[in-house]
Amino acid sequence: MATVVDRVPETLCDDDFRRVAALIKEQCGINIVFGKKALLEGRLRKRVRALGFPTCSDYCDFLFSSSGREQELAAMIDAITTNTTNFFREPLHFTFLVNSALPELIRMNGAGTTRKLNVWSAACSTGEEPYTLAMVISEFASTLPRFDWGILATDLSSKVLETAKMGVFRNEQIEPIPMKLRMKYLLKSRFADSESVRMTPEIRDRIAFRRLNLMSGVAKLKDEMDVIFCRNVIIYFDRPTQERIVCSLYDRLIPGGYLFMGHAESLMHIPLQMTYESASIYRKTRE
Ligand SMILES: C[S@@+](CC[C@H](N)C(=O)[O-])C[C@H]1O[C@@H](n2cnc3c(N)ncnc32)[C@H](O)[C@@H]1O
Repeated sequence: MATVVDRVPETLCDDDFRRVAALIKEQCGINIVFGKKALLEGRLRKRVRALGFPTCSDYCDFLFSSSGREQELAAMIDAITTNTTNFFREPLHFTFLVNSALPELIRMNGAGTTRKLNVWSAACSTGEEPYTLAMVISEFASTLPRFDWGILATDLSSKVLETAKMGVFRNEQIEPIPMKLRMKYLLKSRFADSESVRMTPEIRDRIAFRRLNLMSGVAKLKDEMDVIFCRNVIIYFDRPTQERIVCSLYDRLIPGGYLFMGHAESLMHIPLQMTYESASIYRKTRE
């Protein structure tokens, strides 16, 4: 039974923390340890207020009711995910992609030249990562006749995907993009105020945005990928979950394909047939 302290409107009691953290781990793999209780509480508070519940506890009771699960789970997940991203984040990855990985994939099996090159941004957040990929691959493609390529960009959160699909960014967000690329791939937005720009249709049309939960959706993907970017997401998972997800990504890669992880994410503890190519870049061994 909730105590008076537990019923302080904005406070998440320990029991509620435990059941919400277990639900989040089960649904999206994100491992929220007790030390992060204040962070979770802060993020849930937005939902408590948005739905007008008097206390966090009332919100949790709703979340765990059958109608609450149906109506609220996705919004709760949107509220608790960390979506920090930016254009050209960890820029050496994009240099490696165009200088080493793409030429090697063409040489190995004609990726992009005799068949389509498939690239996947597996936790794309608001789109800065797939749009960066699209700009650098488009530049690479312009040096070759009839280079065919496409990007699948997925995320668990529907909210970030809506933003990503629009392809509209504020002027301060585009600062990491080199001027030459800005001139070529960004337009003054007709949809927002003059402080915003929009990716050109040429770039937007190369990217298919879809909701996909890495915990359950990877095996359902039909295409084999030449390149997977899965950066700054498994860091939120515990070790067994990291291992399971990385193995499922490995299964979606062609032999000789490349896996790019975040700089703080190492695959050293995961036994897979992969070679270490460069900082947090791995390559599936050719059979
Ligand atoms: C910190 S952002 C990383 C964005 C981008 N990859 C980058 O490095 O800039 C992490 C993203 O992972 C997504 N995410 C968290 N759990 C996920 C899951 N189980 N399946 C798919 N995406 C997930 C979040 O919604 C968030 O947008």
